Amino acid sequence: MAQIKIAIVGAGSIGAGWAILFASAGERVALYDPEIAQRESAKKRIGERLSLLKSHELLADTVDQVLNRVEVFDDLATALSGATLIQECGPERVDIKREIFREIESHVDREAIIASSSSAIKPSEFTNEMKFPERALVIHPGNPPYLILVGEIVPSSRTSEAVIDRVRQILESSGMSAVLVRNEPQGFVFNRLQGAILREAYSLVRDGVISARELDEIMIKGLGKRWALIGAFGASSLNVKGGIRAHVARMGESYYKMGLERGQDDPWTPDLVEKVASDMEKKFPVDNWEADVLARDEALMKLTRLMKELGR
Ligand SMILES: NC(=O)c1ccc[n+]([C@@H]2O[C@H](COP(=O)([O-])OP(=O)(O)OC[C@H]3O[C@@H](n4cnc5c(N)ncnc54)[C@H](O)[C@@H]3O)[C@@H](O)[C@H]2O)c1
Repeated sequence: MAQIKIAIVGAGSIGAGWAILFASAGERVALYDPEIAQRESAKKRIGERLSLLKSHELLADTVDQVLNRVEVFDDLATALSGATLIQECGPERVDIKREIFREIESHVDREAIIASSSSAIKPSEFTNEMKFPERALVIHPGNPPYLILVGEIVPSSRTSEAVIDRVRQILESSGMSAVLVRNEPQGFVFNRLQGAILREAYSLVRDGVISARELDEIMIKGLGKRWALIGAFGASSLNVKGGIRAHVARMGESYYKMGLERGQDDPWTPDLVEKVASDMEKKFPVDNWEADVLARDEALMKLTRLMKELGR
């Protein structure tokens, strides 16, 4: 695909991280930040991370080749000129996001896509007053974006489907999986999942069930290790022969009671289980269960070796 220009507004940790991802994938990156210190340190910070990526064999080109694709500007309009995607990475405050979006919109043509990296502010809260809200949305990365290779695409109800498709294409051609998050839920999905775990973890520590460090042993050596390879629904699919339906038949009641203890009366209805099972069976067909379990175990063996190397 032809090289495109990506403008990044805000050169802090997430702005620099996006620059590394996009420039490593061959795109041209223009960085802007109102703070002179941030502008002056940006290429050094990016270069240091690129060198580390190179030493871990995670960079196809040379550090200089990638760094040469990144240009830092002290003028917003020039940085934005000709950009296909503008990725806003300013402070997490709705008034500031509104102001930055207003300013960006005054400088660009109708074609440019304007995305925010916001962790939790709904896109409609700062895009509704725009002239062209159909080209605005949130693309929420993990931190750092060049290593946590999944981005949540969070449109407002006014974002166009063509913009969603184009963003998906840009992220995927940069090596990042794109997931679509509908309806602007508070915290999107990444942080909602994180929040669910943290809420339960805090409750367990509060109730004297376990210490914080021992809880993290379960996360690192147990759940996180398995989830890293097959996900939460994937783990349920492979834990019980017969997949999701069999897992719910065996464990559903117990999970329901755990929810009740936390005031959550929210059973997994047959319709809901059917929806999850039929989607997951496309990835883990029930008649391929033994082979999928074997593949999981071999992946766990490789991960176990790596974790040993890392002293985990
Ligand atoms: N840090 C994370 O873990 C993480 C993860 C995902 C998303 N995010 C989101 O990404 C965004 C940036 O976060 P960060 O961690 O990089 O913050 P940061 O503090 O490291 O960087 C913010 C940058 O914005 C610049 N800035 C200030 N005012 C500005 C303005 N008016 N216009 C443009 N830039 C301005 C600052 O000079 C600074 O360089 C936030 O919305 C944050 O919620 C953060």
